[in-house]
Order: sequence, then structure tokens, then C-alpha cells
Amino acid sequence: LVIVLDFGGQYSQLIARRVREHNVYSELLPYSTSIKKIKELDPQGIILSGGPASVYSEDAPYVDQEIFDLGVPVLGICYGMQLMSHLLSEGQVESADHREYGKAELIIDQEEKLLAGLGSAIECWMSHGDRVTKLPKGFSVIGHTDNSPVAAIGNLERNLYGVQFHPEVVHTPRGNEIIKNFLFQVCDCVGNWTTTNFIEDQILQIKNEVGDAEVICGLSGGVDSSVAATLVDQAIGEQLTCIFVDHGLLRKGEAQEVQETFGEEFDMNLVYVDAKDRFFNKLVGVADPEEKRKVIGNEFIKVFEEEAQRLGNAKYLVQGTIYSDVIESGGTDDSATIKSHHNVGGLPEDMEFELIEPLHNIFKDEVREVGEELGLPEEIVWRQPFPGPGLGIRVLREVSVEKVEVLQEADAILREEIKKADLDREIWQYFAVLPSMRSVGVMGDGRTYSYTIGLRAVKSKDAMTADWARIPHEVLAEISTRITNEVEEVNRVVYDITSKPPATIEWE
Ligand code: XMP
Repeated sequence: LVIVLDFGGQYSQLIARRVREHNVYSELLPYSTSIKKIKELDPQGIILSGGPASVYSEDAPYVDQEIFDLGVPVLGICYGMQLMSHLLSEGQVESADHREYGKAELIIDQEEKLLAGLGSAIECWMSHGDRVTKLPKGFSVIGHTDNSPVAAIGNLERNLYGVQFHPEVVHTPRGNEIIKNFLFQVCDCVGNWTTTNFIEDQILQIKNEVGDAEVICGLSGGVDSSVAATLVDQAIGEQLTCIFVDHGLLRKGEAQEVQETFGEEFDMNLVYVDAKDRFFNKLVGVADPEEKRKVIGNEFIKVFEEEAQRLGNAKYLVQGTIYSDVIESGGTDDSATIKSHHNVGGLPEDMEFELIEPLHNIFKDEVREVGEELGLPEEIVWRQPFPGPGLGIRVLREVSVEKVEVLQEADAILREEIKKADLDREIWQYFAVLPSMRSVGVMGDGRTYSYTIGLRAVKSKDAMTADWARIPHEVLAEISTRITNEVEEVNRVVYDITSKPPATIEWE
């Protein structure tokens, strides 16, 4: 285990992830983690992350100085290096005349363990205001840049190192080698951690914490909740009940797939709630997109709550929270898989659960690896993002059973053809929308007045921005021909060629 202590830097979790990429398990812990806890965890190395503070500011986050005396190698990155210098005797940090931000050339002065094998200079990424002006006792400069005479330091005897730049980001192209050097040259790690170990550890932890209590889980068929549920099932299967609410706004075949995979193949306790009528009734006369979202969200919670209450005495609730959700909700200060939490995801105050979040420390692609390892089908592991309100916001304006059926058919054809063209991993999200408008067409000898289907396919990294996918015309032609031939109520197909911004990915 290599611990990354988080001082609030933008890239803290990325450091832990880079370490895991070298098959060494790593976890991000808050900087305030007690020295006692750190000793208990018995890490092979400790990395101090970057952070926005200045070591001299009033509430600057500190670590117990004892951390440098444990005999465990420490690597301080950016703020981590400044803190190390500040806390160790004789070191000094000052605020620089100007911030250094962006690319710089690191001249390597000592090609020893940390910087071994890198040659005489590498490109690195800087982002700092303060800088180390006096080295702590026993340290020497192992690398410098034009602007930072002290860009990398080391106390080779005590295995304490610091770098002012960020080896964890892609803008430091050979940063990975520095992290690798720290792990294998400095910390003597073995590098045998895999997702199999992760699964085993999580299963053990869940078993220990949950004891014989009952656990419930809302299963949507999405990647995260599916992987989380499967993991918990392998730990305490008999005590776990998954609730799958079918709101009727899923894609074609999805409800069956969830039932087959989890209910049959994995033989989990799955409660399938057919709530289609309830949702469609609630949606009558609702045309505004935000209003639809509210109606669907509220109804979802109501159904889930009713089912949870019917099941009785669950003490724990499994959630598929992954690391990016943790950042979005603004908190990284609780690193336990199981934590007390109240009133989650809009559930009423009087329903109190403890949360089990086995994936909260890992990234999406790591979640997928775990899913594959658990034997989940490719359709689930590689499922594209799908909004909670489902097709409810892909049928524009008022939703009806008929329109949802038309959309499901068209969408299924689009998905089939994209897969056939081998574009499914390349395109971030692709789906059909039904704009609830009709237009004139001609079929055989007759005039038609039918629905239009919009096709949407985008490439994106994080859904914040997106570019429309350049699907080959032949593929688009095949999709269009099939939809107009096979879906009777459709006589026109259009392709959305706007990016985000100015458009959004979804149409509502
Ligand atoms: P937009 O349309 O805002 O979508 O560009 C960005 C990403 O978020 C998804 N999305 C939603 N997900 N509930 C969700 O759970 C929603 O109401 C919702 N609206 C959009 C969308 O599919 C895309 O991946």
C-alpha cells in the first residue's frame, strides 16, 4: 500500500491512480489522517499531494512531523514538497515573485533513484506560487529549471524526496517513470496488486463491517450500480436485496437484460418493480423538460421507498458512487467504503441508512475493469452513459407509451448499426430522440404524415464538452433506411451536427 495524503490538490486522486497503474495499491487519505492510523496501515510509501494553500497561511494543512521519521519513504509533490521542506529542520519556503505555471524543462542534476534513467533533462509541468529557498538538512537538489533552482530534492539516506512539478499529469510526459522509480527504486514495492486483490479486499471489508445486517441496493443497469451490487453480492449475497424499478423509460430490451443478468445468471435477490403505469400516468400533460425530470425523479424515490419499507429492516444501502461523483459532490474527506450518511439521494429523512460505496475510490475505467473481472456482460460493463429520466427526456415534450415504443425501436436500430460498424467504443454516447413532430412523406403511392427521428452521436471525455461524431455516411444511410423501413410510424431521419456547446448532448 502506498498512501497519498490529500492536501486538496486538483490532481490528488490522479496520483493514487497512477500508482495503481503500476500494480501497487494506493488510496487517497485526508491530510488529517492520524499518525496512528498511518502506522496501522503500514504503508510502503507515502506521497504528499499538491494543494492550493501556502505553508505560511493561517490554516495551512499540516501533517504530523513524525511522518518523516517512520522509516517509510516519502515523496512530496508541489505543496507536499514545500510542506516537507518547511517542517524539516533548516528548510525554508518563500512566496515566489511570480507564479510559475505551465511547461518547463527540468535539468536533472543527480540521476539517482527518483530520477534514474531519465537522462539529462525532461519536460515537466509546473503550477505553483511558493517555492523552496533553503533545503532542509541532509537534502540536495537533484533537479532544477530556469525559474526554480530547487525543482526536485532528495535526502537519499532517509528516502525523502520532493518535486515542485507534477509528475502525475500528462503534461509531464515522463512523469510516470518518476512515479515508477519512487515505487520500485525507493519504496521497494513488488507491484502485484490487481483488480482481483481489490475485489478480495472489498469483499472482506464489506463482510466485516456488515455482519449479519440486511442490505438493499437500487439497481439501474448502469455500470456503477451494477458493479457495486455485484461486489456486495459476492460478499454477503444472502443479505442483499436489489430493487430494480422499471419506469418504462428504458431502452429496448434493457429491463429483461437486467433481470436475466442479475436475477438469473448471478442469482441475486432481485425485486423487479413494474412501475410503468405509475410513471406514464404521472407524465400525462407534462411537457416541460425540467418538470418531467422532477416528476420522474420524485416518483422514482417514492417507488424505491415503498419497496424498501416493504422489505423492512435494511440497515445498509449500496450506492454505486465512483470517484468523480465524490469530487462533484465536493467531498473527499471520508475515505471509508462504509460510512454513516443520512437522507441520501432525496430519500426521506426518516429513512436512515449507512452507505456502502465500494467504488468511491476508483475511476470509471477501473470500475469497468472490476466489472469485467466480476464476470458482468460486456453490454453492462461498457454501457454508455444513460440519463436517470431515460427516454422520458428523449421523447421531447409530452411522453406517451406509443411515442416511447417508436423511440425504443429506432434507438435499437441505431445501436445495432453502430455496433456492427465497430464504432461503439469510439463514440461516447449515441442515441435516438423523438422530437414529437410529424412531417409529410411518401411511401409506395401514398402520402404519409409521420414522426421524425433525430440521431445524436457525440465524442466526449467528460460530457462537459462534446463534438458530434463523424459517422461514415454509409452507416448513417443504413440506419436511416432501416428506421424508415422497420419503424412504421417514422418517415424521416435527421442527424444532429451540433457540438456542445452551443447545444447540449441531450435534446432536453
Ligand atoms: P447534457 O445534455 O447536459 O448531458 O449535455 C451531459 C451528460 O449528462 C447526461 N444527462 C443526465 N443524466 N439525469 C442524468 O442522470 C439527467 O437528468 C441528465 N441529463 C443529461 C447526458 O446523457 C450526458 O451524458
